[in-house]
Amino acid sequence: MMRVFSKRNVVQHAATQDDAVVHFNESREVMESLIDQIEDGIVLALPDGKITYYNRMVKVLFGLAADFAPLSLMDLGQINWNKRMVRAAIDSGADYGIAKASTQEMRFEEKVHAGEEVRFLEFTIRRLHSQTREQEVRVIMIRDVSAKRRLEATLQNGGACGLISTNPEMLKLLERARQIAASEASVLLQGESGTGKSCFARLIHEHSQRASRAMVEVNCAAIPETLMETEFFGHAKGAFTGATEKHQGKFAAAHKSTLFLDEIGEIPIHLQAKLLHALEERKFQMVGSNDTVEINTRFISASNINLRDAVNQNTFRADLYYRVAVIPLHIPPLRDRVGDIPVLTKHFIDDLVARGHADNIEISKSAWQALLNYPWPGNIRELANAVEHGVICSDNGLIEVESLPQDIRYYSQDNHQRYTQTIPVVTTDSDENNNETHTALLNALAKANGSKAIAAQILGIDRTTLWRRMQKFGISGEQ
Ligand SMILES: Nc1ncnc2c1ncn2[C@@H]1O[C@H](COP(=O)(O)OP(=O)(O)OP(=O)(O)O)[C@@H](O)[C@H]1O
Ligand SMILES: [Mg+2]
Repeated sequence: MMRVFSKRNVVQHAATQDDAVVHFNESREVMESLIDQIEDGIVLALPDGKITYYNRMVKVLFGLAADFAPLSLMDLGQINWNKRMVRAAIDSGADYGIAKASTQEMRFEEKVHAGEEVRFLEFTIRRLHSQTREQEVRVIMIRDVSAKRRLEATLQNGGACGLISTNPEMLKLLERARQIAASEASVLLQGESGTGKSCFARLIHEHSQRASRAMVEVNCAAIPETLMETEFFGHAKGAFTGATEKHQGKFAAAHKSTLFLDEIGEIPIHLQAKLLHALEERKFQMVGSNDTVEINTRFISASNINLRDAVNQNTFRADLYYRVAVIPLHIPPLRDRVGDIPVLTKHFIDDLVARGHADNIEISKSAWQALLNYPWPGNIRELANAVEHGVICSDNGLIEVESLPQDIRYYSQDNHQRYTQTIPVVTTDSDENNNETHTALLNALAKANGSKAIAAQILGIDRTTLWRRMQKFGISGEQ
């Protein structure tokens, strides 16, 4: 079966056909180990679907257990191979289906459940004639295109909720958000201020079956403690002095829709029991009334304080925490996904241009340096404001360090040492610094979503030095 690869790649320089076969057999082990290194899955199968060979990646891509050996294509995911291949053959211009031989390449994509994960796999299938078997063999190459698909989906759907990212962790979060939107489960969004919690809440609501009704939002941090109960549950006429009319609270307003409890950590402990009851029983009583109001509501909560810590400090009830955090999502801060800064900056500039600013905007190298090095305590909201500041104060469309808000200016090239307190910049390659350099390199590359240009900026070194250090530590970079 390895003959598939032999003619062009292995035997080309051999003197005779016999030499070629010997050479080929010797090379077989090497070839197999090489094929196991490839990041794509490779399967050889007979026309009846029996698998005769597969490489290491196949098990990874399909999430197969280590001790499971797939014998047939049917063992690889829930794929209707025949139907997919006929379809792919027709799509590639053939007017025949699977039964006829074809040297044409066929390609299709399939969403596959690999253990806990959902992957988008691209299958490329070629037919080859095997002389040893005297029959057709299918060579199936499988590539994981999940990251690409998630990115496309985000860029396309970003518009609706304005969420943009190229960071793998964020892309997974966005897909998870869409996936759980349809369920009724309570979602808890946690993350620093300005990371996009409110946007995620809107995205989940807009992708849910309740999307036709407006989501009801209540910011618990903005309501005085004494008014919170009536704000949530409403009050009956005459419930207290001045209650001349019946008032419908947010819970009743969110009937058949979604209630977004923002800053849920701000709810005082004495109200948490009543809130828990309302969440669990889906019913409550208005202030000053014994009548029970029943609701059909989906709950999403958000907090920028760590609610688990609040539970440990006895300021948040543990039972309420578990109730609201059936699905917890943590949104990473911008400084942990520096690679998102360029795409978000472009997005905010486009937005400003669409709102009437001149479209000749450029950003100087040291201004970029400052944007990439600044730790962004206010996250995306702060970046949006900084970009607007930069555009307004730009010099004929060029955003210079001086055009940026003062806090950020400090992080330009000349001053970037201050940032090194959080990310060590190592300027020598001496042995004792090796571990530190290695870690700093990996950190910078992770934050830069793998972009070498951005990683070099974060470390304050040029791209050649970065590349040399990557080589030294055997770090490969795809981009
Ligand atoms: N990934 C993103 N792409 C584009 N815009 C974003 C993204 N994340 C956040 N934003 C924008 O940043 C701003 C802050 O987002 P949002 O209000 O959702 O954050 P938050 O976590 O709810 O903040 P807070 O804790 O202050 O309530 C909004 O204007 C939002 O549109
Ligand atoms: Mg918010």
